[in-house]
Amino acid sequence: MPKGLLWEPFQLGKMELRNRIVMPPMVTRYGNDDGKVTERTLNYYEARARGGASLIIVEATFVHKQGQAFANQLGICDADFLPGLSRLVEVIHRHGAKAAIQLHHGGRTARSVLSGLPPIAPSPLPIPDGEMPREITGKEIGDAVASFANAAIRARQAGFDGVEIHGAHGYLIDQFLSAASNQRRDDYGGSLPNRQRFLLEVIKAVKEAVGNDLTVWCRINGREYGVENGTSPEDAQDTARQAQAAGIDAIHVSGYGPAAPNNLTTPKFATGVIMEVVEGVKQAVTVPVIGVGRISPQAGEKILETGRADLIAIGKALLADPDLPEKTAADREEDITPCIVCNGCRDDLRLPDVVGIRCSVNAALGREAESRIIPAGKPKNVLIVGGGPAGMEAARVAAVRGHRVTLYEKDTRPGGQLVQAAIPPHKDRIAPLVSYLETQLKKLGVEIMTSTEATANTINQARPDVVILATGVSPFVPGMPGVTGANVVQAGDVLEGKVTTGDRVVVIGGALVGCETAEFLADQGKKVTVTRRGPEMAAEVGLSNRDFLLKRLVAKGITLLPGIKYHEITPQGLVIITAEGETKTIAADTIVLAAGAVPESTLYEALAGGTTEIHCIGDCVKPRTIRDAIAEGFRIGAQI
Ligand SMILES: Cc1cc2nc3c(=O)[nH]c(=O)nc-3n(C[C@H](O)[C@H](O)[C@H](O)COP(=O)(O)OP(=O)(O)OC[C@H]3O[C@@H](n4cnc5c(N)ncnc54)[C@H](O)[C@@H]3O)c2cc1C
Ligand SMILES: Cc1cc2nc3c(=O)[nH]c(=O)nc-3n(C[C@H](O)[C@H](O)[C@H](O)COP(=O)(O)O)c2cc1C
Ligand code: SF4
Repeated sequence: MPKGLLWEPFQLGKMELRNRIVMPPMVTRYGNDDGKVTERTLNYYEARARGGASLIIVEATFVHKQGQAFANQLGICDADFLPGLSRLVEVIHRHGAKAAIQLHHGGRTARSVLSGLPPIAPSPLPIPDGEMPREITGKEIGDAVASFANAAIRARQAGFDGVEIHGAHGYLIDQFLSAASNQRRDDYGGSLPNRQRFLLEVIKAVKEAVGNDLTVWCRINGREYGVENGTSPEDAQDTARQAQAAGIDAIHVSGYGPAAPNNLTTPKFATGVIMEVVEGVKQAVTVPVIGVGRISPQAGEKILETGRADLIAIGKALLADPDLPEKTAADREEDITPCIVCNGCRDDLRLPDVVGIRCSVNAALGREAESRIIPAGKPKNVLIVGGGPAGMEAARVAAVRGHRVTLYEKDTRPGGQLVQAAIPPHKDRIAPLVSYLETQLKKLGVEIMTSTEATANTINQARPDVVILATGVSPFVPGMPGVTGANVVQAGDVLEGKVTTGDRVVVIGGALVGCETAEFLADQGKKVTVTRRGPEMAAEVGLSNRDFLLKRLVAKGITLLPGIKYHEITPQGLVIITAEGETKTIAADTIVLAAGAVPESTLYEALAGGTTEIHCIGDCVKPRTIRDAIAEGFRIGAQI
């Protein structure tokens, strides 16, 4: 057995856990349209159970149709759901993990378009951009309590070992707990004991229904961050004490709200970002406490040693690599695909056109069955051009399959745009992806030739069986008077420190790169203005990160000027036409171009028409994201 408390068995209620790593509930949207378990659901959970977590808490599952908050969310609201849920328990148990399920009612976050019923809540207060909920009646409160108890009975029928009552994250139970969403004047509103009443009734009903057979616990917010009048750490501690008195076997402490560090892309990496509130609850109760929030196994070990929590939940990092527990136990940390905390998976929860969460670094997430890497029938000589994420992932997968792979990178180091992407504030989280891929390629014997620019000639001379072009992009230079002036530089060069800027800077382009470069410069004390033709800054940035980024820019004194037209660049600065039609010079020492990128397709054009098999992947097809680059690298590596 590996050394450390993390690997010691633990008795949680009636469950004997093989170690202290828990997979927390994460909605996947892999269910059927009606909420039934699919093959995709089974394969996803089986991979995580096989990977070594001791307890898998199946995602938030609606106990009543009226509580459905996500398309393709799993349900447990009648007996029709039992066959699928029973199979789910089987695949989790097959690998020695215990199976629990999170019981959920969305309350005001539920959507009538999914449920066919109007949402209900303690008070008629909608979430931003949400539907106006109807105030839940006294009778409906009793019905909702019964829905949780009946769902727990079904969980027992399906063979689950435990149930987690979802009392966190702004859903129905939490809507009662938080004074910010509960304005009732009856026994369920007002004082904290009144606001706790619904949770405690649910706990008692669930315990009565299944408490003799299943382990029963609840998840609560240790604090609502950035919510006026929201749950304080002291409120959470009191709620935990009351939940314990009501018979709960454990408490799972999370964090919630627009400023919750567990949801923000804080630079502080993998140390446990909400541990102060977890620890507060731990001190308030005697039942075991599960901690969560950007906890790496190493940080988890320290947390256990110092008694700040009893079990460590690891969420997104298990989406990125389901084998994280096994690899850690085997001392193979360098083989773990690192979560880069980009929040792409969270954004997918709400995107209407997306069917199921995806991961930027793990192309196999939600496609576990189709993504098994199968040895190549006939090993080939594969030449990959470009050492960005697309080229490196293609090289990794091709080499795992037994192909002989050579990678040409014209720069002095691999990484492509990831090297620049990891430089702005809050982006150091991307750097581990480059080290991971580089290490894997070295271990797999891929020949990485840096400072080597591939040309049609060198490629033809090498006579490979397959060529994969992953050549990325070139910066787009807008056709504007003055753009070739000495005061104009590229954002990428600024980030890499290849050029310096004066104290007054104007950035041309307000997409991700422009905004992030502006923040990078503002942190150096520069006076920065970001300009954009389009009406909104950072419009392409995912929902979870965008507000946070824009708030930081404003807080750092950066001027944001969307909706303008560009006129010219002069030695004095940038001349624009404002949204109101006024011509104006923004005085600046340096103009930074972040005007977008164009596919780097020169090599493809030179090679096209030849006889060698050629594939193009990543940004050189169309500038996009890390997720597209990794997905295409994986796909082509698995296909050739
Ligand atoms: C500042 C910045 C921040 C970003 N932030 C994010 C983010 O937060 N999230 C996100 O999803 N995306 C982000 N991106 C975009 C992301 O980095 C790219 O989408 C991704 O790197 C594309 O991968 P790729 O492998 O296709 O191309 P690249 O990463 O561009 O790699 C291409 C490589 O090919 C090499 N090459 C080109 N021609 C040749 C040749 N002839 N011979 C040898 N080598 C050659 C280049 O030197 C380069 O290393 C960011 C980009 C930048 C610049
Ligand atoms: C895609 C996604 C879905 C989630 N769904 C749930 C959920 O169903 N129930 C829940 O309580 N928390 C949910 N969470 C929060 C996680 O359980 C976890 O608390 C959070 O990701 C922080 O842990 P981590 O930093 O280890 O990822 C979800 C998080 C993500 C990223
Ligand atoms: S999508 Fe991003 S945040 Fe989510 S697991 Fe993958 S790397 Fe981590």
